[in-house]
Parts: sequence; C-alpha cells; structure tokens
Amino acid sequence: MALTKEQLDNKQMELAEYIVTHKDIDGPLMPIMQKAQELFGFLSMETMTTIADSLNIPVSEVYGVATFYSQFSLTPKGEKVVSVCTGTACYVKGAQAILDEVIKQLGIEVGQTTSDGKFTIMDTRCLGCCGLAPVLVVNEDVYGRLVIADVKGILNKYR
Ligand code: FES
Repeated sequence: MALTKEQLDNKQMELAEYIVTHKDIDGPLMPIMQKAQELFGFLSMETMTTIADSLNIPVSEVYGVATFYSQFSLTPKGEKVVSVCTGTACYVKGAQAILDEVIKQLGIEVGQTTSDGKFTIMDTRCLGCCGLAPVLVVNEDVYGRLVIADVKGILNKYR
C-alpha cells in the first residue's frame, strides 16, 4: 500500500534522526540500511543517496551492500511476502512443486508483487527448520510438511 505524504515525511524524519545517532558508531552502514529497509520496506535510490551523503561515502558503496545481502530490497514488497524455502532438504521434499503452485495461485513470478500490492513471492535458502520440509513462510507465519493441495488454503487466509 502506498504511503501518504505525511507518513513518508515521518519515516524520512525518523531515518534522519537514526542516522544522526548512529553515524559515529563503528560500522554504521549496515544498521542504518536495516533501519531504512524496516521503515520503507525497500531501499529507493533516493534513500540510498541520503544514506551515502550522510556518511560521506559513494552511493555505489550503499548500492553494493544493498544488492549483496538478500535482506535488502530495491523494489517495494507486497503486504505479505510468501517465501518458499528451496534449500536442499526442502528441495528434496518437493519445494519446487510448492513454489510452482504459489506462482500459479498468485499469477506472478518469484521476485514479483501482485498488482494490488498484497503479495510478493520470494524463494529463500534454508530457514533452519528442515524437519518441517517442505516449508513456506508468509511474513512470520511458518507452514511445514506441505503438499501442493495446502497452498491455496494458506494463501486464502491472507487474501
Ligand atoms: S532446507 Fe528448507 S528449512 Fe532447511
């Protein structure tokens, strides 16, 4: 969902305050980028430029970090991020078929967001709960030991 101008201004102000209180700590870039990601849900070029200017570093350095770590996103994500684990244990237990069903149900590809801004599909590496393989996560809700027939019902809970 798009932010109102007031919400955006408030978040920009919160980021500016966070930068002021964190720019002199050891290794300030990651925590500041994490704060920006948390506030806006993604890192726009404008946000990365603000961070770079505040820390007196090239924007290419911020961009490099943003594209290296999967915790950062350069595009807005949906309200619900559906992550299908494609780590080895989940893959062996049929994760690809689960992912294919999510793609089919939502009508978008991995990395894309539905036009109503509701869902984004991501594939992810091992989530550390291999005993539940194959695993799917919607925001913080974990679903395990899935079969293809489970997918539709899970997604419907969030529609
Ligand atoms: S491989 Fe999927 S949770 Fe570990």
